[in-house]
Amino acid sequence: MEIVRVSNLQKVYGENKVLRGIDFTANAGEVIGVIGKNGAGKSTFLEILMTLKPYDEGNVLLFDKELRTLSTNQLEHVRKDISAVLQPTQFYKTLKVVELLKLFKAYYKSPVDIEQIVSDFKLQPHRKKYFDKLSGGWKQIVSLAIAFLSEPKMLILDEPTTGLDPHMRNMLWTYITDYNKRTGGTVILTTHNMDEVEMYCDKVMLLNDGVNEIFDSTEGILSTGFKSINEFYLSKVSI
Ligand SMILES: Nc1ncnc2c1ncn2[C@@H]1O[C@H](COP(=O)(O)OP(=O)(O)OP(=O)(O)O)[C@@H](O)[C@H]1O
Ligand SMILES: [Mg+2]
Repeated sequence: MEIVRVSNLQKVYGENKVLRGIDFTANAGEVIGVIGKNGAGKSTFLEILMTLKPYDEGNVLLFDKELRTLSTNQLEHVRKDISAVLQPTQFYKTLKVVELLKLFKAYYKSPVDIEQIVSDFKLQPHRKKYFDKLSGGWKQIVSLAIAFLSEPKMLILDEPTTGLDPHMRNMLWTYITDYNKRTGGTVILTTHNMDEVEMYCDKVMLLNDGVNEIFDSTEGILSTGFKSINEFYLSKVSI
């Protein structure tokens, strides 16, 4: 089943034409890595998929519905099936980790067991701490745990492993892979770590000069003679 279909997507910031014609599809159950250099437009692309940003040209279909034609009500309905890594906000300051998880569980009416999430994300030592007082990496872990709480059909993660130590990075990938197998949820993420792409992503989209220069399966890319996704990236993208 097709979850996302993007054709000829274009996005301009003032004079800066960041996306110049992206074609992209994501099917149910796929894990897709979006890669490209700093400023290539990866976050912009993900924000459009999250329905947070308008676009200038082209089509974006989420769950078979063109975003531009949706009413506010329909948009809210679509958003229920999408989760994204939340950015820490002021609002979190006065809440402890476990309180935050309970709050979002109630908000999403999630069947997920909070104690299971606490255990899966290794949050036991931090459950009674205020979110605001956590280190950067742990704030990110809590944000990721919240994103999974709604059991979304599509999960959008912008650099989810940046700033995580090797164990937490490993834990997160284990969780993403399990979630993907268990629920068939689609995961679209960005990362600058090409080893992660090679190990965990089914497909890769390379954003370069505003277009999807490559959009292929990870095996497909490796079968064209590259020893690794890192070697592929370095050969395709100039500084
Ligand atoms: N709100 C905005 N207004 C104007 N320009 C913006 C805005 N957001 C992003 N840009 C510009 O759009 C381009 C793409 O930015 P974007 O954040 O999408 O890149 P990215 O691929 O996510 O980069 P990185 O790897 O550094 O996170 C950059 O030139 C950036 O300066
Ligand atoms: Mg970015």
